[in-house]
Amino acid sequence: MMRRKLVAGNWKMNGLVKDCAFPKALSEALNAEPRCDVLLCPPATLLSAMSATKPDWLKLGGQDCAAQTSGAHTGDVSAVMLADLGCTHVIVGHSERRSDHGETNETVKLKTAAALDAGLIPILCVGETLDERESGQAEDVVVRQLLASLPACDADRIVIAYEPVWAIGTGRTATPEDAQAMHAAIRSAWPGRDADVLRIVYGGSMNPANAEALLAQTDIDGGLVGGASLKPQNFARIIQSAR
Ligand code: G3H
Repeated sequence: MMRRKLVAGNWKMNGLVKDCAFPKALSEALNAEPRCDVLLCPPATLLSAMSATKPDWLKLGGQDCAAQTSGAHTGDVSAVMLADLGCTHVIVGHSERRSDHGETNETVKLKTAAALDAGLIPILCVGETLDERESGQAEDVVVRQLLASLPACDADRIVIAYEPVWAIGTGRTATPEDAQAMHAAIRSAWPGRDADVLRIVYGGSMNPANAEALLAQTDIDGGLVGGASLKPQNFARIIQSAR
C-alpha cells in the first residue's frame, strides 16, 4: 500500500506576525512543489494571516482545539473556528498538552471527535515516557493510549503521530528500527479493517540529518517536526527527504 507521506511542522508557542513570510521562504528553499503533503501548524494567532498568503500546496493546521463547538470557554479555540480559517488539520493530545494542561485520554477523545465533526483531520499524538521505554512497556502504553483516545473513525480521516516523550525537543531520536517497530504495532492495533491506509507519522527531534532514514521505514508515513520546522532551510530538507 502506497501511502502519501505527510510532513507537518508544529511551531508550538513560537512565531510573530513577521514570521508570516515563512511560506514564501519555504517555497524558495524547496525550489519545486513537494512530493508529499506539507502542513504547517503555527500558533493560532498567525493562522489568519498565513491562510491569506500561503501557496495552495501548503496546508494549515491548529495545534489544539476545544472539545466544544462554541460557548463560554474563555481562551479556547474550536475546531469549527479552525476550519473557518482554512485549516484542514489539527493536532490533538500532544504530550505538552497532556502534561501542561492535564489533558487525559478522555479529553483527547472528545477533542478528536470535535475535530472530525468539524471536517478536520486530527493528528492524534501518542508516546511513551523514558521510564516506560526502559521498563519494556513502551508498546503496551502507546497502544493503550491510542485506543483510549480514539473515537470511532475511518483510517483515512485521521493521522496518528508517534512521539516518544523522551525524544521531544531533546535532540535524542528513536532509532529508525525502534520507531518502525512502534509504528507497526500501532498499525496492528488499529481497530478497523482499513489499517493499510492509516498514516502514522513520527515526531521527536526529527531533523535534516535523521529524516531520510526515519522516513524510509515501511510504516513511517511522515513526520511531525517541532524545532526543525522553524527554519525554512531545515524544514525544506526534511520535506525533500519524504518520497
Ligand atoms: O510536535 C512536534 C514534536 O513535539 C517534536 O518536537 O522536533 O522539537 O522534538 P521536536
